[in-house]
Amino acid sequence: TREDALAQIAAAQDLGTLETLRVGFLGKQGSISGLLKTLGGMLPEERQQVGPQIHALRESVSEALAARKDALEAAALAQRLAGETVDLTLPAPEAPRGSIHPVSQVMDELAEIFADMGFAVATGPEIEDDWHNFGALNIPESHPARAMHDTFYFPDQDGEGRAMLLRTHTSPVQIRAMLAQGAPIRIIAPGRVYRSDSDATHTPMFHQVEGLVIDKGIHLGHLKWTLETFLKAFFERDDIVLRLRPSYFPFTEPSVEVDVGFAIVGGKRVLGGSGDAPGHGWMELLGSGMVNRKVIAAGGLDPDEWQGFAFGAGIDRLAMLKYGMDDLRAFFDGDARWNRHYGFNP
Ligand code: PHE
Repeated sequence: TREDALAQIAAAQDLGTLETLRVGFLGKQGSISGLLKTLGGMLPEERQQVGPQIHALRESVSEALAARKDALEAAALAQRLAGETVDLTLPAPEAPRGSIHPVSQVMDELAEIFADMGFAVATGPEIEDDWHNFGALNIPESHPARAMHDTFYFPDQDGEGRAMLLRTHTSPVQIRAMLAQGAPIRIIAPGRVYRSDSDATHTPMFHQVEGLVIDKGIHLGHLKWTLETFLKAFFERDDIVLRLRPSYFPFTEPSVEVDVGFAIVGGKRVLGGSGDAPGHGWMELLGSGMVNRKVIAAGGLDPDEWQGFAFGAGIDRLAMLKYGMDDLRAFFDGDARWNRHYGFNP
């Protein structure tokens, strides 16, 4: 009966039971469907009387089924929500986070330290021509220094007939800065450089920072003070001691190689103190010197009026010394475990 059907529907406790009931009443073989089929065999008068009753029955049963389905679904949702409440006082799960690469970190530190001394950051192209990379820096064709630089050349020349190459040092930015902004100049130029060289301590791409000061009456004392102030701030040590040695670069005259004193502590080199003290040593750190007159002229300035100093240091080296890393190649492997090991991934 109708009451029976509605009672069964109301008593269904889950969606599965309800579906079984629906099939039993309204499915192809269902009891109400069966009743509908009997209409075909009836006399018209009988059918007119019984037909509406069966249709009304089917109507109320499907309404009851739909209503019960809504009620069961709402109950299921309410139960799920009750079980899924979030406890905001629980600690959040650890999610992997990115971090800054040591090279980028050191570049930021350099920019900040030199900004305090009035230096701006300049950049130049990594694809250079041989005039900016060599010629303007007083490294003429056939000069042995060109061979020293294991250069990556491009097969084609640029529009002005100059050989194109990947810059072998950041020094071409000296020329670009002078030509672009004239004097006085106080810049650092950090960036990528390339040499076809690869072993435990050399990668074909590495990073340098160039420093250039052009002004009037600049001398070696300014260079030494600037490097000392920079290195003390960078290594966060007041006892950094530098040793200046005569050297040779075609673009500086005189040229000065700068060493930094270190002590051996627990088998490791720790910067600080004079390298001449017992148990200490000197480590080569960077090249520098007074900018060669020919280079100042190539930059479009009068070398009788303007003087300056320049230096070039390896950024990767600086990072290794500051953060105690010992394999240069690991810088460019992209293995996050390495970053994490050195505290660069919190
Ligand atoms: N450009 C030189 C090098 O790559 C470094 C240097 C820069 C030396 C500026 C002196 C002055 O080794």
